Amino acid sequence: MSSGSSDKLTLPEAQEGFLNIVRKLNDSDNFKQLLNWIQWNWLNDGKLKESDTSEEILDSIAADLRSSLPLEAVLPSEIIRAPTFGKNSDCEQQHTVHVDAFLYDDEMVDVLCDEGKIPRSCCLQCGSLNTRPLTFISHSLSRERLLFIFKSMLPPLDGKVVLDVGSRLGAALYGACVYSKASKIVGVEINADFCNIQKKIIEKYNFQDRIEIIEANIAHRPDIILAVDVVIMNNVFEFFVEPEQQISIWKFLRQTTKSGTLLVTVPPLEETFSYLQTGIVLSEWVQELPLYNPDAAGITMSAEEMQELKHYRVI
Ligand SMILES: C[S@@+](CC[C@H](N)C(=O)[O-])C[C@H]1O[C@@H](n2cnc3c(N)ncnc32)[C@H](O)[C@@H]1O
Repeated sequence: MSSGSSDKLTLPEAQEGFLNIVRKLNDSDNFKQLLNWIQWNWLNDGKLKESDTSEEILDSIAADLRSSLPLEAVLPSEIIRAPTFGKNSDCEQQHTVHVDAFLYDDEMVDVLCDEGKIPRSCCLQCGSLNTRPLTFISHSLSRERLLFIFKSMLPPLDGKVVLDVGSRLGAALYGACVYSKASKIVGVEINADFCNIQKKIIEKYNFQDRIEIIEANIAHRPDIILAVDVVIMNNVFEFFVEPEQQISIWKFLRQTTKSGTLLVTVPPLEETFSYLQTGIVLSEWVQELPLYNPDAAGITMSAEEMQELKHYRVI
């Protein structure tokens, strides 16, 4: 029965319309994604139970983010620049797939590749068998890396203030929230769309008491750097900022970080400064630290992967 007004639907009409949309979905996987999207945007009952474990909370956040982002988790409002030098200089656009490691673990990536949703290799010479594997790049910390940073690398952070420079989807912030007792966790992100995405998650999961998002260029906020105990920098500038700007931001960080601040960097500072001519003498700025708890439970990373993350104390 029609409601009488031409543009208004009765409940049965809306239900029929919804069923029509579902029938037209081109992929059965999209039905679950659609329900997640509805829950994420329209329902308020997705709040977590008190008893959920840290891993379950991170899994749930990742599922929410997957349902509201494109597969590559790159937004139209950002410009990603392929580095022309350094370890990632093989990331030219046509040979690179962006797969966010917080959203998709290795098993999920394998499934997506098997289903043909993510290519594994590309043809270098059309029509021939001359192919090369594509380079996979993540712009977020994986869940394994988060566990490693907060349970093995860093000391307990009870009462400390943690800053993630370039917080993007917020992976490091959620990791700090569930794996540490840091009293305050700050994410500074230059892209307004990513700030909004993080704010939605923080509200949904009731993290407002501990996590704050600030939309800013970190180079303009010495006040934030000076107010924190730990600074996390996961390949924050390489794909997003021109090399000259990177140099000036590193010089700003060198001048601003106060003695005693802990820095967690991916890649190690030694690697970044081997191809960026900053003039900073690392041994005069920071001292590398050993893992606080090398035997922490649940760490699955290989020794080789651990070498990609380092932490330091500002002298
Ligand atoms: C590789 S992502 C890091 C993501 C996140 N920290 C993590 O580990 O999961 C780098 C982010 O830094 C942001 N960014 C780049 N330069 C910045 C700057 N000068 N100030 C604030 N954010 C910046 C980019 O927009 C991007 O989202």
